[in-house]
Amino acid sequence: MFSRSLRVSSSLQGNLRNFGTTKQCNVKVAVAGASGGIGQPLSLLLKQNPLVTELSLYDIVNTPGVAADLSHINSPAKVKAYNGAEALKEAFSCAEVIIIPAGVPRKPGMTRDDLFNTNASIVRDLAVAAAEVAPKALIGIISNPVNSTVPIASEVFIKAGNYDPKRIFGVTTLDVVRANTFIAEAKNLDPIKTNVPVIGGHAGITIIPLISQATPKVSFPADQLKALTERIQEAGTEVVKAKAGTGSATLSMAFAGARFAISLIRGLRGESNVIECAYVRSDVTEAKYFSTPILLGPNGVEKNLGLGPLSDFEKELVKAAVPELKKNIEKGEKFVKG
Ligand code: NAI
Repeated sequence: MFSRSLRVSSSLQGNLRNFGTTKQCNVKVAVAGASGGIGQPLSLLLKQNPLVTELSLYDIVNTPGVAADLSHINSPAKVKAYNGAEALKEAFSCAEVIIIPAGVPRKPGMTRDDLFNTNASIVRDLAVAAAEVAPKALIGIISNPVNSTVPIASEVFIKAGNYDPKRIFGVTTLDVVRANTFIAEAKNLDPIKTNVPVIGGHAGITIIPLISQATPKVSFPADQLKALTERIQEAGTEVVKAKAGTGSATLSMAFAGARFAISLIRGLRGESNVIECAYVRSDVTEAKYFSTPILLGPNGVEKNLGLGPLSDFEKELVKAAVPELKKNIEKGEKFVKG
């Protein structure tokens, strides 16, 4: 008896050493669109992260091959393939985190809104399944136009009667990743230690980098500030042009999507001070959905950290973005409400 309790307490100590004060838990992550340009490298990054214990790969094509390949990596996550619409509910069932990069990407000359006709119904159908079999999952939507697909998923949950605004996120992490890179390059800083919040939405002028809130603190003459802001807003188009018709950002998006998914898991586990910018239901501005820095916790959004102090330049950017966002949001809501 005595030796048994000793054994228990030493294994508890082991756990505390490994996990600090956070909870150890099983985490099933589902990726919808797992065979795609983003889905595959995103799934690879999730597979190599020990916080993921089950990786559920859903797509309408090719998941058996992707899953067989990833399953040979010697990391803890059990990889399962779900192929075709009839496998969707099982793929999502009891997932703690669902990441959605399903749908078509841009070609040169297209805006993200041009993807609406195809991607709106894809995201709607995925949200219908999630609302039924994983209503408590934290959902990260990558599929564009994010400004509209997040309202679409939210309206589906509202219709299903189990909407929790704390659990649905538009993934805007790539905008932050890009801002960090470009600002670090401009000032010769360590890009890993540079952090630039990016707020608003995820298309053109709705992307608002808050360079005045960058850490470490930086400053630029007005013309350079404007040029850097525009480069961050148009960075996706830079990649679309360079890929010349073969797609949009996939590798950097996979990096950003994995970072966001892992932050959701760290929040779920009760880690403190996990903060990511994300496009969520919001009352920070007149736009019903708006990206700001979010403190993540066991239920998703723990606290919306708001806009923070804005420069006059940034105030103007917000003023220009809000009407555009409202249009994008209304379009998404109408799509579900009919
Ligand atoms: P892709 O065409 O390479 O892959 C999309 C995948 O979705 C394909 O494997 C396809 O079979 C799958 N798919 C299509 N319909 C589906 C359905 N009903 N259910 C499940 N899977 C389905 O496209 P890529 O490059 O991976 O881009 C995916 C989306 O991510 C696009 O909408 C793109 O605009 C968006 N994106 C978002 C970014 C962001 O920052 N939020 C950045 C870059 C891209």
